[in-house]
Amino acid sequence: MSLEREKQLAAESAAELVEESMRIGLGTGSTAAFAIRRLGERVAQGLSITAVPTSLQSERLAREVGIPLIDFSDVISLDMTLDGADEFDPALNLTKGGGGALFREKIVAAASDRLIIFADHTKQVQQLGKFPLPVEVNPFGWQVAAGKIEALGPKVTLRQGSSGPFTTDNQGYILDCEFGEIPDPPALERQLAAIAGVTECGLFCAMAEIICMGEGESVRHITPRA
Ligand code: 5RP
Repeated sequence: MSLEREKQLAAESAAELVEESMRIGLGTGSTAAFAIRRLGERVAQGLSITAVPTSLQSERLAREVGIPLIDFSDVISLDMTLDGADEFDPALNLTKGGGGALFREKIVAAASDRLIIFADHTKQVQQLGKFPLPVEVNPFGWQVAAGKIEALGPKVTLRQGSSGPFTTDNQGYILDCEFGEIPDPPALERQLAAIAGVTECGLFCAMAEIICMGEGESVRHITPRA
């Protein structure tokens, strides 16, 4: 069974949780693309929703498949956000930001009553940290923030694009931080948030309500274990 198929089944099962009149946050990444396409089909069949995308990439796809978009500044809260993840642990703490959209993803998730995550089975881990943690920093003096993060232990690499540093939709840089193990994700999230120049980190702690995980030809709905 291919991982692409697991992603598709997981994302499509999450898209079925969306109900009439909801305001939806649209995540970013290859799995989120399956959900956006499925929501586009449901809209074509008559479902009435509005959505806020978490990246320019998801905005383009949502427009292409006909999902009505609203400006984030016009809404105070969203009913549900559907998004992918790079890793999740038994408490449903997440690592996100592999696609570089973590800042908008976190703001949109924080504004949502429910955060539904979809993933193939390889994203399930006992402890976060094997996937290098993305941290968005302001380009001004990014080396200072990088040095302070390095002092916490990880190897830190400035993510590269096709011609120089990778730049996010908010004109930030991404530092990929190889922690190896993150025994206490909420504590690390607080430590990173306290560093000057850090815009946001890719740890999403205690935010997800359900993980729709593709496993072969089926989808398991996983809820948090303390
Ligand atoms: C983008 C993200 C993605 O949700 C995450 O990287 C998973 O991507 P994919 O579905 O392509 O594996 O956080 O910033």
